[in-house]
Amino acid sequence: MKKIIVLGGSNSKKSINKTLAIYAANKIGNAKIIVADLNDFDLPLFGVDTEIENGIPKDAQRLNKLLASADGLVISLAEHNGSYATAFKNAFDWLSRINQKVWKNKPMLLMATSLGARGGETVLQSAKMSFPYLGGNIIADFSLPSFNDNFSEKGITNEELKTDLNQKIQLLQKAI
Ligand SMILES: Cc1cc2nc3c(=O)[nH]c(=O)nc-3n(C[C@H](O)[C@H](O)[C@H](O)COP(=O)(O)O)c2cc1C
Repeated sequence: MKKIIVLGGSNSKKSINKTLAIYAANKIGNAKIIVADLNDFDLPLFGVDTEIENGIPKDAQRLNKLLASADGLVISLAEHNGSYATAFKNAFDWLSRINQKVWKNKPMLLMATSLGARGGETVLQSAKMSFPYLGGNIIADFSLPSFNDNFSEKGITNEELKTDLNQKIQLLQKAI
């Protein structure tokens, strides 16, 4: 059985990105899904002085180990002002101080969703550019626009978007 780490790039308790990432990961066959909730990792605000004074936080090491144990990653990024949500960027920066290959070449489905019509496309593009330099092995990417219009408790309601995501999940399945 393959181990999939699911990460919502947000610390919102009701994160729509966490919801989307869990939904997508649950469609992967023969997989054990482990959700890495950023709220469960106690990470001070990254700064080079904090790092010199206190070293790398234990929870950054813990998150790093969790990522290292994965066969595949399903990540969905929240977009705040066109960029990463603070909690995600903070974790990302700490992780990069442990190992520059943050994503460890694990096959990754990279997504974003937002309440707006662009579906977090800006942060998604940014991650698509930078992750490959940080050990990112992006197998497929997907953006879900207007989350409230396209997602219900049954999952993605728009057939075209649903088919698109299902095909991308199949690509990840083949890669893990
Ligand atoms: C500070 C802040 C900035 C935001 N900036 C954007 C943005 O640039 N683009 C966008 O589509 N939505 C933006 N939003 C709305 C988010 O898409 C929405 O809050 C979404 O629920 C975030 O994902 P999450 O629920 O996974 O945290 C912003 C929200 C906040 C709180």
